[in-house]
Amino acid sequence: MRFFVSALVSFLALANNVFAKSGTGDSVLVVIDPSLKKEDYSKFFGGLEERGYQLTFRGPRDAHPPVEQYGIPGFSHVILFTPETKSYASDITPQSLVGLLSENTNLLVTLSTKQTPLSSLSAEFSLIPPPPGTPLISHHPARSEPATVIPIPVSESPLLTPGTSPVWFSGVPHAFGNSPYLVPILRATSESFAADSLDDSGADALVDASEKAGEGLWAGSHLGLVTGFQTLKNSRVVFAGGVEMFSDEYANKALPDGTPSGNEKFVKDITAWAFRETLALRIDNTTHHRAGEEVPPETYTTNDQIVYTAHISAYDPKTSSWKPYSGITDMQLEFTMLDPHIRIALPPVAGEPGKYQVQFRAPDRHGVFKFVVDWRRKGYPLLQTSTTVPVVPPRHDQYPRFLSAAWPYYAGAISTSVGFFLFSALWLAGDVEGKKKKGLKTE
Ligand SMILES: *[C@@H]1O[C@H](CO)[C@@H](O)[C@H](O)[C@H]1NC(C)=O
Repeated sequence: MRFFVSALVSFLALANNVFAKSGTGDSVLVVIDPSLKKEDYSKFFGGLEERGYQLTFRGPRDAHPPVEQYGIPGFSHVILFTPETKSYASDITPQSLVGLLSENTNLLVTLSTKQTPLSSLSAEFSLIPPPPGTPLISHHPARSEPATVIPIPVSESPLLTPGTSPVWFSGVPHAFGNSPYLVPILRATSESFAADSLDDSGADALVDASEKAGEGLWAGSHLGLVTGFQTLKNSRVVFAGGVEMFSDEYANKALPDGTPSGNEKFVKDITAWAFRETLALRIDNTTHHRAGEEVPPETYTTNDQIVYTAHISAYDPKTSSWKPYSGITDMQLEFTMLDPHIRIALPPVAGEPGKYQVQFRAPDRHGVFKFVVDWRRKGYPLLQTSTTVPVVPPRHDQYPRFLSAAWPYYAGAISTSVGFFLFSALWLAGDVEGKKKKGLKTE
């Protein structure tokens, strides 16, 4: 019976692992507002299909297909091309979208200058929308397009292809709250600002309003345009300030200097990140043992030499499989009992892909310790693991028999013995000599 239970438990654990391994998944639900035409975004959707995604389209008020059934998400990823939609079918609410994220579904959300359920959702993720009706405006660089259609240079980010050309953007910016899980991807240019009119006549009123509200000025490069959020479950959501940046029109529109725009590459990179193709890492397993041994002991003794090993792999979208990954150079291992007693670098092992190893001496304290790895970097998944081990003092017969530190005591005992021996010998010998001298005198 016990065997069956443990077999069942390990089978369930294995099944769970298999599900976790399929990782992302290919089904995508695209919720698209009837006012937007699918054909205007053919490059974006075509690119997704080329990469192997199966797209299912649905209007925001359609009941089918549902995003979730009996608590189980129907799709691996959801794209919301509904920047101005105010009413949805009952299965799409900010709460249900947050629920999808906690069920490991990824989201791509587009926003607009209107106040909608999606702008309330963005506020839950620590993005602060400007007052309604204030798009991003910039009069630089000089160009024939309206001031709300802005070429934005792409800054460096681990999740974007280096050297991406500036992208055309039109939409709403947002300020950042203080959530550490935000991943800014595209920021506004320093000459741009959010305002409700193109002719700058309301600019003073806007400054007054923002000062009164204590939010600072809605201007400059501290504003975000496209921002990601990495949840504690490692699902991802990307908020884009406008839907036009995904369109064929913006992908084909040349920049003011005549070169092609980076929109097509940029939207590919952000969906690849959001759908966990890129920067997807996981800890496969961790082991620990005494130096010179192979298996983990039941307990460690204080001052033991301990070897800790972690295996990490990264998802490779080209082969749809997990490959050993040795690219992390700043990971740390902590050996903690309430506080970290030891915090030490956990470097990759040269020549063994995916393996990270360190050897250290256990502290001279006994108690229940934990090996903790907690690696958090912007744009990367959280890598967290913790293993509990007891550290005990040495047994009575495990202490060394000879202590070099005790040499003063050893020397004291030896010198007393030697002294006693010398004294006895001298005293006895002296006595005989005395007698002899006496004898000589009496003779
Ligand atoms: C740990 O993971 C690595 C890489 O995935 C694998 O090669 C190794 O066999 C695993 N070790 C154990 C003990 O499962």
